[in-house]
Amino acid sequence: MSGEPLLVVAPTPGSGELGEGLARELGVEPVYGEFKEFPDGEEYVRVRVDSGGGPAVVVATMSRPQSRSLLVAMLTVDALREQGMNEVYLVAPYLAYARQDRVFLPGEPVSVRVALQALASTGVRGLLVVELHRADSLSWFPGDGVNVRPLPFILRRSGFKCRRGETVIVSPDLGGRQRAELVARRLGCEWGYLVKKRDRVTGEVRIEAADVDVEGMDVIIVDDIVSTGGTLALAASQLLERGARRVYAVAAHYLGLPGVDGKLRRAGLSGLAAGNTLPWNPQAGFLERVDLSPLMAEALKGLLRG
Ligand code: R5P
Repeated sequence: MSGEPLLVVAPTPGSGELGEGLARELGVEPVYGEFKEFPDGEEYVRVRVDSGGGPAVVVATMSRPQSRSLLVAMLTVDALREQGMNEVYLVAPYLAYARQDRVFLPGEPVSVRVALQALASTGVRGLLVVELHRADSLSWFPGDGVNVRPLPFILRRSGFKCRRGETVIVSPDLGGRQRAELVARRLGCEWGYLVKKRDRVTGEVRIEAADVDVEGMDVIIVDDIVSTGGTLALAASQLLERGARRVYAVAAHYLGLPGVDGKLRRAGLSGLAAGNTLPWNPQAGFLERVDLSPLMAEALKGLLRG
């Protein structure tokens, strides 16, 4: 890395908090991109920088509306490249479209590949994302890519305790087994998983089986994202039915859709801790927001060193 990085906060909802956190950790002053919508609905971005010859880091989380955020991230990178910055990195704490990482029904696209290739087309050199749905999706990005795994960090900073013999870490689906194992190994707990099936047309989920004994245990469900809360609500109620004492959850991303907190409480969940990759408000005693900037700053320094 040559020179101090220029840190640019892209004008997408939720980028400010993490952008400022990263700027603090790196000891730099953030620069803010401006946004406006043209009368016809198109997006306009402007960001004025004095290129000091060092790299630029754009922080752009892909909050709702996701397609607009993806485009705003690309326009921000392009605006910097137009001003002569050749070494531009993108921090996309939440990478939208990450869950459509394969063709589930004939006729579908691989949306995450499209998103990553579109980002790469702006000339962005390196990309830092947080807890991708499937880590290997990053291989579709041709530059340097880093996938930060924050779940052990979030769990350690949450009020939930992982006690050997009393707590079990559970993935709500087969696809997340490796995630549960990673967290359990780091924290020294038991782990297991549920087998979830999603109806690919209606989106409805059901739990078909479980490879875990939760009788009398505290359970911490770990997942990449809480969107509608359907997966988490179902997993929590099933685990309570199977004799779990209390059920908590830890996720990297919480989309904060209306009514999801109520759904999770009604399902019997005792609390959820998630990263600050997206804009949502914490709720005392139920929704805990964990600042990921220290963890991401370390990963970003590594990416900038190359
Ligand atoms: C699924 O494979 C993911 O890991 C999440 O469990 C899921 O996407 C969460 O979505 P929702 O909250 O809508 O059930």
